[in-house]
Amino acid sequence: MLNRDVRKVYSFFQARWYDCFKEIWNRLGAPEAEKNIQTFLKEYVSEEKSILELGCGTGKNMESIQRLNLLFKNYLGLDFTTDMLNQAINKFKSNNRVTFKQQDISKLDNLDEKYDIIISTWVMSHINSPSEVINKAQKLLKQDGTFYLVFMTKPKWFINLWLWPFMLLFKARYVPESEIQKVQNIKKVKRYSFNLATSILINKNE
Ligand SMILES: C[S@@+](CC[C@H](N)C(=O)[O-])C[C@H]1O[C@@H](n2cnc3c(N)ncnc32)[C@H](O)[C@@H]1O
Repeated sequence: MLNRDVRKVYSFFQARWYDCFKEIWNRLGAPEAEKNIQTFLKEYVSEEKSILELGCGTGKNMESIQRLNLLFKNYLGLDFTTDMLNQAINKFKSNNRVTFKQQDISKLDNLDEKYDIIISTWVMSHINSPSEVINKAQKLLKQDGTFYLVFMTKPKWFINLWLWPFMLLFKARYVPESEIQKVQNIKKVKRYSFNLATSILINKNE
């Protein structure tokens, strides 16, 4: 996947379509996976925790944190699509604990702060080598920090039948099992919607 093509998809109509699309996806695409993101946030986010989001898009996960009334220390959202970030920045401009930054998440070497929580939802399908990015990002976790990811994996044929044109349109691909196997420190793997989505929980406690 070329980054330029992915950015073009999410820049369409200044990303104004995304939140509406995401609501539909949450209800029809993978509702259980989305419910589990909320469960993760409720269980792990707390007043003293710092949060890093990789591929934050329009800030939908930050919106969930706010809607659930969860307190947190600070939040940094990274994304490389200007229009997606602009939507996110507009939503949280009055919250000084929330920062967004334009950055390619496959190049994280410039970040030196460590985080209690890292999240990344529906992003890894755009990354050429997800395991490499995930393992590198783990270096930004504090001792005993937690990393939660949700991404698309190859579903049963009857789901793939209608989904593959959307995968082409979104310049996305299913994260292969071989990539999941290369991810370090996995504590839990969960599958949803006939394998259409997979979540992994990473806990760095070495
Ligand atoms: C499907 S959206 C998910 C947004 C958000 N995480 C959510 O759950 O609503 C995918 C996002 O990943 C971003 N993205 C894809 N590849 C990226 C990369 N290499 N670096 C930074 N952002 C990336 C896109 O710009 C887009 O905003």
